[in-house]
Amino acid sequence: MTDRVTIFDTTLRDGEQSPGASMNTAEKLRLATQLEKLGVDVIEAGFPAASEGDLEAVSRIAGKLERTEVAALARTAKEDIDRAWKAIRHAAKPRIHTFIATSDIHLEYKLKMSRDEVVNAAVEAVKYAKTLTENIEFSSEDGSRSDRDFLCRVFEAAIDAGATTINLPDTVGYAVPEEFADLVGYVRNHTPNIGKAVFSVHCHNDLGLATANTLAAIKAGARQAEVTINGIGERAGNTSLEEIVMALHTRQNILPATTNINTRFIHPTSRLVSMITGIMVQPNKAIVGANAFAHEAGIHQDGVLKNRMTYEIMKPETIGLSTNKLVLGKHSGRHALREHLKEMGYDLSSEELNLVFEKFKELADKKKHIVDEDLEVIVTEGILRTSDVFKLEYLHVTAGTTVLPMASVKLNIQGRSVQSAGYGNGPIDAAFNTIANLTGTESELLRFSISALTGGTDAQGEVTVRLRENGLTALGKGADPDIITASARAYINGLNRLEYLKSHPIKEAAGL
Ligand code: KIV
Ligand code: ZN
Repeated sequence: MTDRVTIFDTTLRDGEQSPGASMNTAEKLRLATQLEKLGVDVIEAGFPAASEGDLEAVSRIAGKLERTEVAALARTAKEDIDRAWKAIRHAAKPRIHTFIATSDIHLEYKLKMSRDEVVNAAVEAVKYAKTLTENIEFSSEDGSRSDRDFLCRVFEAAIDAGATTINLPDTVGYAVPEEFADLVGYVRNHTPNIGKAVFSVHCHNDLGLATANTLAAIKAGARQAEVTINGIGERAGNTSLEEIVMALHTRQNILPATTNINTRFIHPTSRLVSMITGIMVQPNKAIVGANAFAHEAGIHQDGVLKNRMTYEIMKPETIGLSTNKLVLGKHSGRHALREHLKEMGYDLSSEELNLVFEKFKELADKKKHIVDEDLEVIVTEGILRTSDVFKLEYLHVTAGTTVLPMASVKLNIQGRSVQSAGYGNGPIDAAFNTIANLTGTESELLRFSISALTGGTDAQGEVTVRLRENGLTALGKGADPDIITASARAYINGLNRLEYLKSHPIKEAAGL
């Protein structure tokens, strides 16, 4: 048996199911390219039956990636499989991923199907998918709560029908490690043809055990781990890629399995996902949290200064965290910028570099030292937001103890410049009111938070907003040394995301 674990990344599918995490096509393409660079083996690019937007995004990703397998999710219905295939048929390495629930509770209440009918649906789906491509993954949704012998029966039938990977999900995050490892062992020992397929697991984090369960499954013989960057995903999320990869990397003595991941791209990829989705990483998150390598206690700092390994089990550089944070300034040239961005994991085209360079110079006029976090914001804003409907051209606010807060705003709305002025309870409120007037939008501000990207009084403020309009919600993010400008940028970003959602309605994905 091989000791290599296949990394199947589902940030673009299960991750995108996180509340408020929807991404537009340009953002998905950017992330898929970064995941390929990171070295994931399979990218689950989406669920094409869910919406036209999903199908289009999966299709664009399939057309772009050269080395990585591109999987599309489908229920066992023929129409779902046809849409999945339509989206990935031109991929260099396509994979159809079909699934059906196998637990009694799902059979009785959701599917209203008997066990025989479920086996039949699984077999028919795999056989049909096999007429389209060789590479078929079959998943037993709610597998961890399914009857063990029925699970073995479904897997055996799916493999006989042509499945090349079988995936055992802990859909509701109910399993605990020992029990899950035991289940993996049982299925491996009681499914006669199991050797003909790769054994995969897919864990959710409802009890905070997704990583532990996945590692236990790998110890018990699983050889594919389904994961997301930063652990984002449905409800409490999925197993996080960085935790699995770094656990295998750090604990080779206990877990002798390897992955194809280039760990130096873990940190930039994590930042990219949080910038794109607007979902911040909690500071104490393992591996990629802001405090994951910070030592606060004096005794720890003293130890680290004497020998890093006293309190550090991994080197920050291994995950691509730059220890040399002071990077560039006003006089730095395009070449230095390109080289530094490369080191950070961003390999930009000349056109993209020009855009980033322009923004970098603008920021360097306001801020003396540009650090990695600043560059990340520029890259994300400069490259990913070029297809925005609303763009900020100009903002001026007056506020203070004796004046009525007022904002003058100029926006570019699809090539047309418009401007106006308005009042509010404070300068941010005034800016938001004026932007809402200019864009003709009526969103409700559900959340507003602000944090500093780095230390120092010239740090950029990073603002996150959550907006709701006509039942749609979207997150917006913006950064700038001026917190009112950062707020306006975040608000406009949120409005752009709402515009995207309005033009890409998501059909209810039954069964997910
Ligand atoms: O959690 C789950 O069961 C899933 C399947 C579709 C694999 O996401
Ligand atoms: Zn899932």
